[in-house]
Amino acid sequence: MKEAWQTLFPDIGEIKNQKLAKVACGVWDEMLPQSEWADVQSVPFSLAPGSGSLVAHTRATMRACLRIARALTGVYPGRVLDLDVLLLSALLHDVSKIVEYSPNGRTEAGNLYQHAFLAAHAALNAGMPEAVVSIIMLHTPQTNVPMKFLEGVILKHAEGGIAASGTDYQRQIDEAMA
Ligand SMILES: [Fe+2]
Repeated sequence: MKEAWQTLFPDIGEIKNQKLAKVACGVWDEMLPQSEWADVQSVPFSLAPGSGSLVAHTRATMRACLRIARALTGVYPGRVLDLDVLLLSALLHDVSKIVEYSPNGRTEAGNLYQHAFLAAHAALNAGMPEAVVSIIMLHTPQTNVPMKFLEGVILKHAEGGIAASGTDYQRQIDEAMA
């Protein structure tokens, strides 16, 4: 239900096309029963210990995308960004982690498919704009296909920063320096 998702992801309220926002929330609704998770809050951002939750990652990524977009258009007023495409992509970019992971580790689907393929597939089936489907599909470093949309470049970098802070980043730095 959209209201429940908006509590977790407040920037859903910034999406102009609320009909599409509702459809995107439906993608989260449909992904959950296909998974082994009892509730969405239990889904981790990654299988690395201390990575935080998928919900926190998604909330932070949406917020970061919005702020980068506003900063960018403030400095470059001629640059037009589609905020709906940006926010819908941010909302759905990692939704397939729900079925890529289980409480016991990586699932069969997680092994079979490139990360985010199932998110893009679900978004396409739900009728999301092609730009959103493409951005979801191409946001992962697992693909070598270049990003096609500026909104996607923003998402990719924003979520990369959020991902780094969501993992045990200091430990990784310490290990690299050791
Ligand atoms: Fe991702």
